[in-house]
Amino acid sequence: MRVAMLTGGGDCPGLNAVMRAVARKGERTYGDELVGFLDGWKGVLEGRTMPLGVEAMRGTLPRGGTVLGSSRTNPYKVDGGPDQVRASLADAGVDALVAIGGEDTLGVAHKLAGEGVAVVGVPKTIDNDLSGTELTFGFDTAVQICVDAIDRLHTTAESHDRVMVVEVMGRHAGHIAAWAGIAGGATMTLIPEHPFDIEAVCEAIQHRHTEGKRLASIIVVSEGATPKEGTMELASGELDAFGHVRLGGVGARIAAEIEERTGYETRVTTLGHVQRGGTPTAFDRVLATRFGVAAIDAVHDGAWGTMVALQDGAIVRVPLGEAVGELKLVDPALYDVASVFFE
Ligand code: F6P
Repeated sequence: MRVAMLTGGGDCPGLNAVMRAVARKGERTYGDELVGFLDGWKGVLEGRTMPLGVEAMRGTLPRGGTVLGSSRTNPYKVDGGPDQVRASLADAGVDALVAIGGEDTLGVAHKLAGEGVAVVGVPKTIDNDLSGTELTFGFDTAVQICVDAIDRLHTTAESHDRVMVVEVMGRHAGHIAAWAGIAGGATMTLIPEHPFDIEAVCEAIQHRHTEGKRLASIIVVSEGATPKEGTMELASGELDAFGHVRLGGVGARIAAEIEERTGYETRVTTLGHVQRGGTPTAFDRVLATRFGVAAIDAVHDGAWGTMVALQDGAIVRVPLGEAVGELKLVDPALYDVASVFFE
């Protein structure tokens, strides 16, 4: 078979590991020819491909990013886009497509599968907010990067008796913040699932700092965290092709409010794209490799319209519709664990 791959949406450590695994099992076990579409759905629309066999993927296991490039192009927002996708797959002689992405990329794959395209999905996002799978690769790496940063912030915060606000990624779900908050010993963690009350945040900080010791306060804030209605104003950003607002900035707003309301010196660190860069953790390399092997098996079983997923420690297949139907939010039980440590 001639099998194509593409990577769409925000990049994520482990993308290359997935493609390396698809290439290895595809070429060596099934005798496939592997190609990649460059820059996500954009490259499909434009018919831009590159060879993506074992040789092309050699040495890429520890490399972050994606050798294919990525984009947030939505073919359903382009005039005649879906027809162009089908034509491009036919022109490239592609029998099957492995789409590696988050809710947007896989949302497109789901629609195309419904229109008869032979496509299989692989879940990717550092945000870990895709349904149908307990974990996505890239998440573990992102959390580790946040925790390393929080550990460093602790010592400087203690030295200066300061409050540190750490803004982490997580657009609609606070998985990164919840995990990083627990692992980093946050004073409080603010996630999109729980609108926050800035007054309660300030009270917690005041309580902690009046204990008389030199105590750092670390407030971990998900970029998508929102204040309870009528308590604080936030600026709104532009939308991308999938209608998502470009976030970033809530941490700085919260830091300013904290300093004004409590009088404690407060600094903000926005971790931003550092969380998506660099080498994947061993865990993410293994998960990505397992997903890649399972994806090429799914192709050879003709399991179109499915996504490989992690459930109860095993790799399974779930319908793409199940994965993109609604976002996976932070389990309230996990947030309860985090809140045991809130001051
Ligand atoms: O891929 C998910 C994500 O990293 C979100 O956490 C974040 O809001 C967004 O991508 C940032 O997108 P961009 O790289 O386009 O600024």
